[in-house]
Amino acid sequence: MSSNEMFDDYTPKKKAKSRAYSLCWNSKANIGFPGVFLFCCLFFLAGFFASNLLSQRGRRLESLDYDLMARGETGDDSVSVIPFQVISWRPRAFYFPNFATPAQCQHIIDMAKPKLEPSTVLLAKGETQQPNDVRTRVATFLLYLSDVEGGGETAFPFEDGLNMDENYDVKKCIGLKAKPRLGDGLLFYSLFPNNSIDPTSTHGSCPVIKGAKWVATKWIRDQQDF
Ligand SMILES: *[C@@H]1O[C@H](CO)[C@@H](O)[C@H](O)[C@H]1NC(C)=O
Repeated sequence: MSSNEMFDDYTPKKKAKSRAYSLCWNSKANIGFPGVFLFCCLFFLAGFFASNLLSQRGRRLESLDYDLMARGETGDDSVSVIPFQVISWRPRAFYFPNFATPAQCQHIIDMAKPKLEPSTVLLAKGETQQPNDVRTRVATFLLYLSDVEGGGETAFPFEDGLNMDENYDVKKCIGLKAKPRLGDGLLFYSLFPNNSIDPTSTHGSCPVIKGAKWVATKWIRDQQDF
């Protein structure tokens, strides 16, 4: 907030207060000081909340600026937003905080558990790039199903073209790192929009130092997914 906005914000309140005082003294002179004081406080609070409401209304009107489609029987009358953060443009990587609820994550773990060996390495393997496979993979979506007490970050060692001369060793865990947090999602592209491979999308899972890492991996391919 700039100092100008602060000024705009506070001026009407001050005006409301002084107006309240003059009104008190002119017409309610016989109600005594406590009454006057209370009345003035109420007036001040009313002005304060009214100006707050008005500014919120302004924000809501902004969302009404969308020219919405007619909805179907089961649709919504409002726009929905999935908040995300661009954590990198090279590679194109997008972080989705609170993508899934803890209950949804637990449900996925419960479904997967009977089919898996109890090994965090197996789960982490899905994050490791297999060169023969990458050509058909456009993007990867990771959903972190658990918090990890130490380590376990998804690392992009070549982010922004850095470290590309060195030998890639994921154990060194360098470059851009996304910390696994329960319910958060990470989407990144392996291909440029022109379909050529983005070398900065090379990634791996840093070693888990403490705790267990659970992650659901969805590969998005340009061919049929088997
Ligand atoms: C595809 O796009 C990337 C990134 O913009 C660029 O570096 C590369 O040269 C392009 N490749 C082709 C074949 O056009």
